[in-house]
Amino acid sequence: MQLFLDTTDTAVLKDLAATGLVDGVTTNPTLIAKSGRNMLEVIAEICAIVEGPVSAEVASMETSGMLAEGRKLAAIAPNIVVKVPLTRDGLVAVREFYAEGIQTNVTLCFSAAQALLAAKAGASYISPFIGRLDDHGAVGMDLITEIRAIYDNYEGFDTEILAASIRTPGHVAQAAMAGCDCATIPPDVFNALFKHPLTERGLSQFMADWKGTGQSIL
Ligand code: E4P
Repeated sequence: MQLFLDTTDTAVLKDLAATGLVDGVTTNPTLIAKSGRNMLEVIAEICAIVEGPVSAEVASMETSGMLAEGRKLAAIAPNIVVKVPLTRDGLVAVREFYAEGIQTNVTLCFSAAQALLAAKAGASYISPFIGRLDDHGAVGMDLITEIRAIYDNYEGFDTEILAASIRTPGHVAQAAMAGCDCATIPPDVFNALFKHPLTERGLSQFMADWKGTGQSIL
């Protein structure tokens, strides 16, 4: 399973990329706004930090605008994935990007039917928003299970399932159990993946006992 970082914070990205466990990055207009930086500059900087896919989202609502923006974004670096909203105009743009060999991530997916259309359009990734569905009173993980079943029914569907709107380490584990190809994770949740209170407690005990032996391995 590929793990992406959902961030525009390049300092945080560099820190976590150093673990060797970050396979790619996703961004969105809200994260760009939070960074307070120029989108094209921050995306170029992210692409220089990670070799894997970096999703950069279009801002236009119409197909023609999405195509112009997406081509400009794709020219930033070879690892750019153009992120397109799951709308009719968006999926028409995805079909054209597919024909041009430009990778796409279809975002804001909230139903299995939407995911079916995205795969037919030739999306490289589909991003079901787990946390926002949970917030809405649904069970976000059920959507992942449904999409996995649909995509596995048809050999021609190559779209990867990218679990998004992840809120907890449990979401990441559940997405992996449900057969997601990737998950995009906020930095605080990524850091939480390393931790468990029993790991910390056990390590404290081991270190105290080791100190008591007076030994040294080196
Ligand atoms: C994914 O591509 C999105 O950027 C992100 O996962 C959205 O998460 P949120 O619902 O926490 O804003």
